[in-house]
Amino acid sequence: MAIKPSLFFVFLIFFTYYFTEVSSLVEFTNVQCESLDKDFALFEYCFLKSVNRSYKYVSLKVKLLKLPVTKVKVNFALYKRVNGYLPFLYNITLDACRYLKSPHHHPIALYFHNWFKDYSNINHTCPYNHDLVLDKMSYHSINTKVTKILPFPEGNYLLEVHWIAYDIARAVTKFYWSLT
Ligand SMILES: *[C@@H]1O[C@H](CO)[C@@H](O)[C@H](O)[C@H]1NC(C)=O
Ligand SMILES: *[C@@H]1O[C@H](CO)[C@@H](O)[C@H](O)[C@H]1NC(C)=O
Repeated sequence: MAIKPSLFFVFLIFFTYYFTEVSSLVEFTNVQCESLDKDFALFEYCFLKSVNRSYKYVSLKVKLLKLPVTKVKVNFALYKRVNGYLPFLYNITLDACRYLKSPHHHPIALYFHNWFKDYSNINHTCPYNHDLVLDKMSYHSINTKVTKILPFPEGNYLLEVHWIAYDIARAVTKFYWSLT
């Protein structure tokens, strides 16, 4: 089911508020990256590191082999584990080139811009002329606001991100996390 950007923004607000309130209970549990087109994109590394009980982070680097990349969409699908991971609430595709063009004029883009800017070089619009890096992104970085709104149930979740260039999925990143 496609969800409109306006709904997606509502989701982001909830998501942000929710994570903030319960941040100590949210944990990354695993991350996986896979190239779906090895002529287009290759992961140099992709890992979750546990520094200690309260500090874990994700780092990844993807080499783009057909530069420049001028058309990018990103699909976010949330899953919840119930006898295997089942689709849960959200399945959204965004045009990254369009939304990141003027992040300060668009709430969704601004959200990602603020989230990624300290951890990533995926912080500008197309074209992408370089490898993409996410450096030491901790779940604390997801927290920016202060109120709990969404009654998000406890459990194990998977946020699957498909990276789509020229309307073909080229790579997938899976962020596993738990809420306890
Ligand atoms: C965990 O590691 C981080 C980074 O090294 C450090 O700042 C923090 O104090 C540590 N927390 C605990 C509980 O040891
Ligand atoms: C998300 O939506 C797309 C397009 O409708 C579909 O191809 C894909 O299978 C969906 N993914 C999930 C997890 O439901």
